[in-house]
Amino acid sequence: MNYSNSHLTFDFLIIGSGAAGLLTALRLADHGQVGIVNKGDFNMSNTYQAQGGIAGVMDGEDSYDAHIQDTLKAGVGLCHEDVVREIVAQGGAFIQELKNLGTPFDTLVDTDTLHLTREGGHSARRIAHAKDATGRAIGETLLNHVLAHPNIHCLNKHMAIDVITSRRLGRHGGSNQCLGVYLLTPDNHIITVAATHTILATGGAGKVYHYTSNPHAATGDGIAMAWRAGCPVMNLEFIQFHPTCLFHPGGSTMLLSEALRGEGAILVDAQQRRFAFDYHESGELAPRDIVARAIDHEMKKQGKDCMFLDARPIGKATIQAHFPNIMQRLLDVGIDMINEPVPIVPASHYLCGGVKTDVAGRTTIDALYVIGESAATGLHGANRLASNSLLECLVMADYCAKAILASSHDCTRMALPEWDDSGLSPETERIQIKQNWDEIRLTMSNYVGIVRSDEWLRRARRRLRVIHDEIASYYWHYPISRDLIELRNLSIVADLIVRSAQQRQESRGLHYSKDHPKTLKHAGDTVLWPEQL
Ligand code: FAD
Ligand code: SIN
Repeated sequence: MNYSNSHLTFDFLIIGSGAAGLLTALRLADHGQVGIVNKGDFNMSNTYQAQGGIAGVMDGEDSYDAHIQDTLKAGVGLCHEDVVREIVAQGGAFIQELKNLGTPFDTLVDTDTLHLTREGGHSARRIAHAKDATGRAIGETLLNHVLAHPNIHCLNKHMAIDVITSRRLGRHGGSNQCLGVYLLTPDNHIITVAATHTILATGGAGKVYHYTSNPHAATGDGIAMAWRAGCPVMNLEFIQFHPTCLFHPGGSTMLLSEALRGEGAILVDAQQRRFAFDYHESGELAPRDIVARAIDHEMKKQGKDCMFLDARPIGKATIQAHFPNIMQRLLDVGIDMINEPVPIVPASHYLCGGVKTDVAGRTTIDALYVIGESAATGLHGANRLASNSLLECLVMADYCAKAILASSHDCTRMALPEWDDSGLSPETERIQIKQNWDEIRLTMSNYVGIVRSDEWLRRARRRLRVIHDEIASYYWHYPISRDLIELRNLSIVADLIVRSAQQRQESRGLHYSKDHPKTLKHAGDTVLWPEQL
């Protein structure tokens, strides 16, 4: 790492320290200086929140073909089968590697054999887990190795603002190359970071919606950055709403893992009527889109704010053994899941679309890679199968590092300009940022939620355009701040989601339109291209 005059230089610059970013850092660390940037603390990622586990074929009764078929079925005809085969084939090996690195996966009593759980859409038990906090266990394991490596430099509380490309610097001959990133430091200075290879591993965009299982960091920054730099995005209309997030007026919408339903929890209304089998023969273990729509439908039909997850059929001993964190977090807000049903609502959970990439995260810009939840490889199609995303993060990290090490990319060494913040007015008030933020999330929840219509999408688009113009004038006239960067990114991603939804004239997987309820016989990916710089 070189540091001079607010300029840093790395061989490999990774934005994001979730599963995708951490494993990429480990894979590259013996080959050069790695910078890994994180806008919060290490635990501020979707990875750290993951509960259920990571999918992989580990049991003799199971088969790769079954996992492939389950993934394809959940994706409703839009999965890229070659990608599914490639990623699913590696599940067992990556789970084993994580175990070897020290991840404390649950095992069967007195054996080294993994305890595998089951989730919706899976035809077999194939989810390796560490109680009900698998993401934290994986994240902490990878982080321990990252912190121990002398070539990896962690920049916590540094926020990436935009990538620097050769086109943006006015070089129009040859291919467009990524040269680095502008970062906002914790004390609000903007520094220039040059890198031979830049990897965006910034996670999803759950914060686009009012109710979400995602932590605050999930504002779609990497997708917005890549889009502004000229990368196409794919399938952004497919937002996965997790069926069971806590409904609690005073609390956050914490997730109640699908593994609870895998172990026997059922969905009921306020009168304790079980309703999931009215919608699908697999009941509570139908694919997520179906279960989320069933809950949404019952809430609307009955005029209720929530439905309930009744975990009592699981039994006290199993709840205490497998779900201690969920149980405790519920007790903290006064709910005893061993003895009473838990109020739940569906909440935005996972972004199936993202920046269009291959499995190695390659984009249309040289030396810029996008991996993990920010990317769309074609694995998930129109709906993600539970616990396939941590697996995708790890496979992408591995492939990305291999692609970088095999590439002949020779970074054009050119002086990178400093961020120009001359001529800005001092900021007077911040209330507009909060108002715009709330307005985007309500607009998306009201008009671009589990059920959509042409008119609602048009309304959303109109409102987002007004907000977008307000943000643009604010962005270029006042000093940049973390909130403002996130708001700008959120508004771009929200608009891309709506535009993608408008392009899909059918209902498929996670995209359900009242005006186009049928699933077309033939359909492809929705790809949006930015105006070329
Ligand atoms: P993340 O883990 O989200 O990491 C993103 C990183 O980027 C963070 O460090 C963030 O701070 C950083 N960042 C973002 N923007 C910037 C910026 N501008 N500058 C600097 N840093 C930035 N999947 C499964 O497979 N199994 C599960 O059981 C499971 N459970 C889940 C439970 C919950 C509650 C949630 C929210 C998700 C769950 N998922 C699960 C999905 C899965 O956790 C995520 O898809 C996956 O962890 C994403 O990893 P990632 O590395 O791509 O991004
Ligand atoms: C869960 O534990 O229900 C989340 C699993 C996932 O999103 O893959």
